[in-house]
Amino acid sequence: MDQVVKVGLIGFGTVGTGVVKILQDNADVIARRVGRKVVLDKIADLDIATSRGITVPSEMLTTQVNDILDNPDIDIVVELIGGHEPAKRFILQALSQKKGVVTANKALLADHGEEIFEAAFKTQADLGFEASVGGGIPIIRSLTEGLAGNRLTSIMGIMNGTSNYILTRMTQEGRDFSDILQEASREGYAEADPTLDVEGIDAAHKLVIMVNLAYGTPLPMSAVYTEGIAKISTVDMTFAQELGFTIKLLGIAKCQDQVIEARVHPTLVPTESPIAQVHGVYNAIHLVGDAVGDIVLYGQGAGSLPTASAVVGDIIDLARNRIQESFSRVPATSFQWESRQPLAIKPMADIESRYYLRCMVKDEPSVLSTISGILGKHGISISSVLQKERKQGQPVPLVIVTHRSLERGMQSALHDINSLPIISEPTVFIRMEGTE
Ligand code: HSE
Repeated sequence: MDQVVKVGLIGFGTVGTGVVKILQDNADVIARRVGRKVVLDKIADLDIATSRGITVPSEMLTTQVNDILDNPDIDIVVELIGGHEPAKRFILQALSQKKGVVTANKALLADHGEEIFEAAFKTQADLGFEASVGGGIPIIRSLTEGLAGNRLTSIMGIMNGTSNYILTRMTQEGRDFSDILQEASREGYAEADPTLDVEGIDAAHKLVIMVNLAYGTPLPMSAVYTEGIAKISTVDMTFAQELGFTIKLLGIAKCQDQVIEARVHPTLVPTESPIAQVHGVYNAIHLVGDAVGDIVLYGQGAGSLPTASAVVGDIIDLARNRIQESFSRVPATSFQWESRQPLAIKPMADIESRYYLRCMVKDEPSVLSTISGILGKHGISISSVLQKERKQGQPVPLVIVTHRSLERGMQSALHDINSLPIISEPTVFIRMEGTE
């Protein structure tokens, strides 16, 4: 091996620019940690004309990805273009040539992870994807190494920086969704297609990756119940606050008796809970292990340098492995490939939760008893009720918080409630966590 480790970067966007900056600015500490210089050899992007605000030699830039993939001197390929194709093809090609691969591509790993993990296993090439979950938070390494001695019972947290940024600003400033989303895009937090952020799909991608590593099971995206933040209004944020709660978009995975429950949805969490204190682009992932107990990992979940920090951490890991000629020491899947087994998935109807309901009702006698009667008929018990003064002739919000109930019963109750003539618009319902 040369006395340097050579890196090829595919994708010179927000995160790619951060990677180049860290490799330049921290070259000395990286070399001292690796034992050799880690040298950026080529950067491939379709656009090599636009200034990224950093200086790179012009001969380093290419529009031809094969200048990296076919270059036998390049040890590590970093894929930061995102999306399914051509990213998958580039990664498989690099792995087949036994190059180390680093990627931040959560959509690809969530949708085609099995194919890529199998390729890494068969070629015994290293695959690093720390940046795919939680931006700068070292959650992947925590799952595959630091917490590997535990049986994990749950993974829960804020896994999408953009939606947390939007919800935080809606709560603090009472502003509407769409102009805050534009700000998140300007800051480089949002996906190229921001519907992935606001519809909860990006968080679901990350949950799939974490479940895979935590429980040694493939998990299809279709197994994750996914609901985004579009239905969240400032009205519900204000009611939630009055009741002592904050609304967050949570990813939740639980494993009991070898059955996995996995879901992403807006959630009321107690305002004094640690997860409610996570603001802006920050993520927090709360894990419970049988040995370690509770552990929370917190940090910036999106953005150029935090995400690039995770990418460079992987580059260093792979560079150290290459120097030692030790590949795949830690399996990409955390569990040894042949010991993984698909676990059963709990249907959404079987989950249990507390619920926040906001019914818009005609203010008439016996409305409350009619609605509580329906809830009771479906086995749902009420914990508290909030109703505001009426405005003449207008529907009034009736806010109900329930005790822990089965989702199946809640869905049936909602159907019955929404069919009542006293209901003027579909009832808003939001699940709750962290209480009772
Ligand atoms: N769009 C993602 C987020 C980027 O907002 O969390 C980091 O994965």
